[in-house]
Amino acid sequence: MTGAASLSGLRIVVSAGPTFEDIDPVRFIGNRSSGKMGFAIAAAAARRGGEATLVAGPVALETPIGVERIDVRSAAQMHAAVLALLPCDLYIGAAAVADFTPQQFASSKIKKRAGETGLTLELVRTRDILADIATHARRPRMVVGFAAETDTVESYARAKLADKHLDLIAANRVGVEGAGFESDHNALTLYWRQDGRDCARALGPAPKQQLAEALLDVILERMTA
Ligand code: C5P
Repeated sequence: MTGAASLSGLRIVVSAGPTFEDIDPVRFIGNRSSGKMGFAIAAAAARRGGEATLVAGPVALETPIGVERIDVRSAAQMHAAVLALLPCDLYIGAAAVADFTPQQFASSKIKKRAGETGLTLELVRTRDILADIATHARRPRMVVGFAAETDTVESYARAKLADKHLDLIAANRVGVEGAGFESDHNALTLYWRQDGRDCARALGPAPKQQLAEALLDVILERMTA
């Protein structure tokens, strides 16, 4: 890309897509993340000369040119794959990681029984990949998270920025027509702290590829500040 700041010499790890948490051999808990935003970020990072690795949940997307891809299914697998890639310079957590997973995997298909009116599934919390990366002994120089909130976006995003020890958080702006999970377009507001001040920048609405470029511009600005 002409004019775009270079990522040459930098190792970038991006997580993308949903995770699937298996209940039994035929059923799982998932979500509607398409992975498009994370794939667009990894593609943009590679185009700028970065050494980009994508850790992808189950998605129907082609691997971007110049990107190394590791496919995973569950939150636990994504956690292990991402941590094994440390050290790196920049981690961008764009995956919609499941917050809960079944406490037990049933090795044969769960059958319904006559007279049964319901089924209770015991779920347990998954480990927070982003928070673990941000507090790791080999912490990347820059750790970026995403926040998919439907309301009170800024206060939730800023709380997440602080609680997870992130350098920057990108909140999906809801209520923008055509934007979001399965769309090719999105609108983001970036939040970070600089010299003790709260900073923010709105990006888009725009195609996810364009947003990925704009996000990398802000990240690089912060990395070189
Ligand atoms: O706390 P919440 O799930 O809303 O935060 C979203 C951000 O945290 C995303 O960047 C997502 O990739 C990351 N996350 C994670 N591991 C989890 C849950 C969320 O890395 N188990």
